[in-house]
Amino acid sequence: MKANDRLLRALKREPLDRPPLWLMRQAGRYLPEYRALRKEAKSFMTLCQTPDLAAEVSLQPLRRFDLDAAILFSDILTLPDAMGLGLSFKEGEGPQFAKTIRTLADVQALPVPDPEQKLKYVMQAVQLIQKELAGSLPLIGFAGSPWTVACYMIEGQGHKNFISARQMAYQAPEVLQALLDKLVEATHLYLSAQIAAGVDVVMLFDSWGGWLSPEHYQQFSLAAMNRIIALLKSDPLTAATPIILFSKGAGAFLESMSLSGADALGVDWTQSLSAARVRVGDRVCLQGNLDPALLLSSPEKVQAAMYALLDDWGPHPGLIANLGHGIEQTTPIENVSALVEALKSYSFTP
Ligand code: CP3
Repeated sequence: MKANDRLLRALKREPLDRPPLWLMRQAGRYLPEYRALRKEAKSFMTLCQTPDLAAEVSLQPLRRFDLDAAILFSDILTLPDAMGLGLSFKEGEGPQFAKTIRTLADVQALPVPDPEQKLKYVMQAVQLIQKELAGSLPLIGFAGSPWTVACYMIEGQGHKNFISARQMAYQAPEVLQALLDKLVEATHLYLSAQIAAGVDVVMLFDSWGGWLSPEHYQQFSLAAMNRIIALLKSDPLTAATPIILFSKGAGAFLESMSLSGADALGVDWTQSLSAARVRVGDRVCLQGNLDPALLLSSPEKVQAAMYALLDDWGPHPGLIANLGHGIEQTTPIENVSALVEALKSYSFTP
C-alpha cells in the first residue's frame, strides 16, 4: 500500500480523482541541486554507483514537485557495463564503451552477470530510496530494451542514427540475434533483481526501436521485449509487478505493442493519445505524451498544453501523464511547476 497509489491504480485502469504524473528523466541536469551533486561526485558513473548518491538524486525532484512516482536514478547502460564493456561518460560527450560487440565470438564471450553481485549498487539504491519514500509513493525501476542496449554495445558509444547496429540487422542478423538473446536473459535477471530489491513498477526504455523497419521492429526490438515480459509475468515472484513499455518513435506499432503483455505503453508526441487509445482498446494504459520542447516555453503555454491533453483524453481511466521523451536539460524549473499545477487545477468533473 502506498499513501499515493495513483500510478498503481492507473496501471490497473481504475477510476481516479486525476491521472498520475511523473516525468521521464525527472532527476537530472535541469535541477541545480543535481548539477551540484554531480560536480561533487566528479562523474556520472560515481553518482550511479554510490547508492547514497543515487538515492539522493532520485529523491531530488520529489522535494520540488508534487509528482506521483519516484524513478530509480541509474542508466540503461549499467547493464552492458556489468557485462564487461567498460562504460564511461566524458563531460558533454555522452556514453563511451571501452569494448564494442561486432562478431559472434564477441557475443559468446559476454557473461550474463549476476545482478546481485555486479549491479549490487543498483539494488542498494532501490532499498535506500524505498526506505526514504516510506510508503509515500511507488518507485519505478527500469532497463533498456535489448535492441536499444545492443545499439550502444555495437556502436561503442552514442550515435545520431546507430547505423552500425542497423547494418548488422541486415548483414549479420545471426550475430544481432545472439546478442539480443543474451540481453533478454541478462535484462530479465536484472529486472527480477530490481523487483526483489523493492521497485513497484518496471519500465523498458526502447529509445531506438522507432528507427527500425516494421519487420525489423517486430523481429529485433519487440520480440525481445515480449520475451522479457513473458518471463517476468510467468514467475510468481515478479508476475504482479506492472510493466511499462516505451518504444520511442514507434507510434506505428502500438497495436502490436499492446499485445506484448505490458500493462502500459509509452507514447511520444507524434501521436494523439485519444487516437492511440482507440487503436489499443482497453488492453493497456497509455503514458505520455507532451513534447519535452513544450517545457522550454512558458508557464501559460505549459498549462494550456496540459489542459489540451486532458481534454483530448476525456473521462477515461488508464492515463499516466508524462512527457513523450526525457526532459531537456535547459528546462526552466517554473515550467515543470506549471505542468504539475495545471494537472491539479484542471476540472475533471464533466
Ligand atoms: O528518468 C530518470 O530520472 C532516471 C534516470 C535515467 C537516466 N538515464 C539518467 C541519466 C534514465 C531512465 C535513463 C535512461 C537512458 N539512458 C536512456 C533511455 C531513455 C532515453 O532518454 O531515451 C538512454 C538512451 C540512456 C543512455 C544515456 N545516458 C545517454 C545517451 C546519455 C548521455 C546523453 C545525456 O543526456 O547526457 C546518458 C547520461 C545520463 N543518464 C544523464 C542522466 C541524468 C546525464 C549525465 C550527466 O549528468 O552528465
